[in-house]
Amino acid sequence: MNIDKNVEKLGFIDAELDPSLNLVDEINKLKEQKQAVILAHYYQPAEIQAIADFVGDSLALSQRAASLNKPIILFAGVRFMAETAKILAPHSKVLLPDLNAGCSLADSCDYESFRRFVDQYPNHKVVTYVNTTAEIKSLSYVCCTSSNAVEVVNSIPANEPIIFAPDRNLGSYIQRLTNRPNMLIWDGACHVHDQFSVKRILELKQQHPTAKVIAHPECKQPVLLIADFVGSTAQLLRYTQECAETDFIVATEVGILTEMMRANPSKNYIPAPPDDSTCACNECAYMKLTTLKKMYLTLKYELPEINVSAEMAELARLPIERMLKIS
Ligand code: 13P
Ligand code: SF4
Repeated sequence: MNIDKNVEKLGFIDAELDPSLNLVDEINKLKEQKQAVILAHYYQPAEIQAIADFVGDSLALSQRAASLNKPIILFAGVRFMAETAKILAPHSKVLLPDLNAGCSLADSCDYESFRRFVDQYPNHKVVTYVNTTAEIKSLSYVCCTSSNAVEVVNSIPANEPIIFAPDRNLGSYIQRLTNRPNMLIWDGACHVHDQFSVKRILELKQQHPTAKVIAHPECKQPVLLIADFVGSTAQLLRYTQECAETDFIVATEVGILTEMMRANPSKNYIPAPPDDSTCACNECAYMKLTTLKKMYLTLKYELPEINVSAEMAELARLPIERMLKIS
């Protein structure tokens, strides 16, 4: 099998495996042998979260990547997260089991259009959400995640104008919280968070009157306005653990329910429904591309690898490091 051609064509390694192979055991053996570490996002499938060394939100995953000194980081997440890990841990080999694991939000901000936009406002400080390519980060002053966006924006003097990209929902939410009228917001969105239905959440609320509605700030403003709590994946998780209430209507990608149920199995977590009742749109298809088989083959052949040119990494590292200093 020509592995390189396989990856080039499919974006991942496909190979026949002995059906009796215990993939979890094999992954653990390879991990040990190669001194690899597995980082996984909360939206990953449950069986992937279960074998990860560390599961977290995008802020915690970048903090962890920056602090690691491991020859191999196997990233169970999406491409921008693996790219951020590579930028922060340039001496590690960063592997992503499927190169097709993109992000609709990152795709909503392409380099050429964004560069032209930024060029029109030379006095604006560019704040970008980490859900962007390394190229977009290279045009930024500072990055943020949904965990620290308020602190990041507040770290910029109030009289300085800001460009916030790429998420329009997170941008407007942060603008309201920080009271920054001089903020230009890029018109991007995540296909998962942008489609939760207020009407259907309110219907659910009637069936579960005591339930707390909790939402990720990438959701549309009407959803955020009816939410009892808004936060990043890690903040939503903490809220469900600390809140005395037992029922939660959860408006974010459904993968987070795995950790919520693991951490506090006696509570009741109800996924918020999308506008279109016929689709499983509260699942991020990109996040669900990771499988145990792909992880095993990735560790075995050390492919696909994520690389960022030294020049681009240097430019993109600066705004990420500025963010990490703030939180
Ligand atoms: P967090 O920063 O909350 O982990 O969210 C990442 C993400 O991709 C949300 O869709
Ligand atoms: Fe990107 Fe949305 Fe998937 Fe998060 S849920 S990785 S923002 S597409």
